[in-house]
Amino acid sequence: MNNSFILRGGIAFSNGKNNIITYSKGYVVCVDGVCKGAFADLPDMYKGLRVYDYGNNLIIPGMSDLHVHAPQYTFRGIGMDEELLEWLSRYTFPEEAKYANLDYAIKAYTYFTEDLRRCFTTRAVVFATLHNEATIELMNQLEKTGVITYVGKVNMDRNGGENLQEASAEQSLKDTVAWLDAIAGKYKNTMPILTPRFIPSCSDELMRGIGKLSKERGIPIQSHLSENKSEIAWVQELVPESTCYANAYEMFDTMGSKELPTIMAHCVYSDRLEMQILKKHGAYIAHCADSNMNLTSGIAPIKKFLDAGVNIGLGTDVAAGSSMNMLKTMLISLQASKMYYRLVDTSVKPLTFEEMFYLATEGGGSYFGKVGTFKDGYDFDAVVIDDSKMFSMRDMSVRERIERMCYNDADVSIRDKFVKGKKIFSAII
Ligand code: GUN
Ligand code: FE
Repeated sequence: MNNSFILRGGIAFSNGKNNIITYSKGYVVCVDGVCKGAFADLPDMYKGLRVYDYGNNLIIPGMSDLHVHAPQYTFRGIGMDEELLEWLSRYTFPEEAKYANLDYAIKAYTYFTEDLRRCFTTRAVVFATLHNEATIELMNQLEKTGVITYVGKVNMDRNGGENLQEASAEQSLKDTVAWLDAIAGKYKNTMPILTPRFIPSCSDELMRGIGKLSKERGIPIQSHLSENKSEIAWVQELVPESTCYANAYEMFDTMGSKELPTIMAHCVYSDRLEMQILKKHGAYIAHCADSNMNLTSGIAPIKKFLDAGVNIGLGTDVAAGSSMNMLKTMLISLQASKMYYRLVDTSVKPLTFEEMFYLATEGGGSYFGKVGTFKDGYDFDAVVIDDSKMFSMRDMSVRERIERMCYNDADVSIRDKFVKGKKIFSAII
């Protein structure tokens, strides 16, 4: 299979946040890794290209996971009776400390990278740990999967306990520069992202240093924002001059810009002021509903943010989120928005399926450029899905089938997955 071809099947993709275009037996064209559009009838100019006919399978754009912690993958699903701060100190920090041992990291990251290759995700933004060697190992492994990623060596110089804390702001910044230098020019699909864990983990001096480094090197930033009430109160104590949590990031010049947007996970408690700060900087919200349920954090009013024009994608946030399956994340996000409407604020309508499909594909994909839909000029990222086990007594439309796929993820399987026109996973081999 070269990098120019046509896939045939039941096609669905977003055209803006309120519209899904479908073709029951359509064509999606890839030329040199770039999508040339999807069509009900194949235009004459593409008739010379090889057609791969997937029969009744579904073909959708690849999904973007904007927030996932690779070192937490192997302990997902335990310790879930705790809330954020207790969960971090009892389970997460002790686990991440083990990545000081490279042999441990090599093995554990194999489980993460192999499962990432096999899931609906074609793009991901990943937290590693504070350890340089282990982070480079993770990047080496990710590069081989063909999934396109941003990866962050984590910065944390306070409140990590004895085993998961850098000696000083200076040391943390020095290690970050050494990590960036070590991987410069090494990868095609794997890019660095600066990763101050969250304000409680990073001194003012460290935060300022990260802001400066981001500007100097043109490298984006990811972090956590307004996830949990105790966390927010703690940030107010740590940075008393700030008007809100997002303003604390702003003060340290880490909120980014439209050209180099910061990704902030959660934003469960972001109010109007915080929403305005996010929008002003062109920041992305990584909405992590599975995590927010598991750690009893709350429900982010995503519909409000979306209507206000804030950039948003979905994050699985493993291991606070218990799976890398984006269909599951979509479903929980839908259910959460319905309960927010019913129980919290009836002026905030539930997210529609159209909006959720958009967030999982084009919404998050836009962080990576022209990614996440089958419009002309977008990178050709696609997932071919077999939903033949989802029995029905009548013919379902493609729109009905993708909604059912999301509500019943256990009944569908991935047949092939493409990134920029390259097949990176096939169920057959
Ligand atoms: N805030 C700071 N670190 C973390 C983490 O590892 N997971 C989550 N969910 N929130 C965080
Ligand atoms: Fe997280």
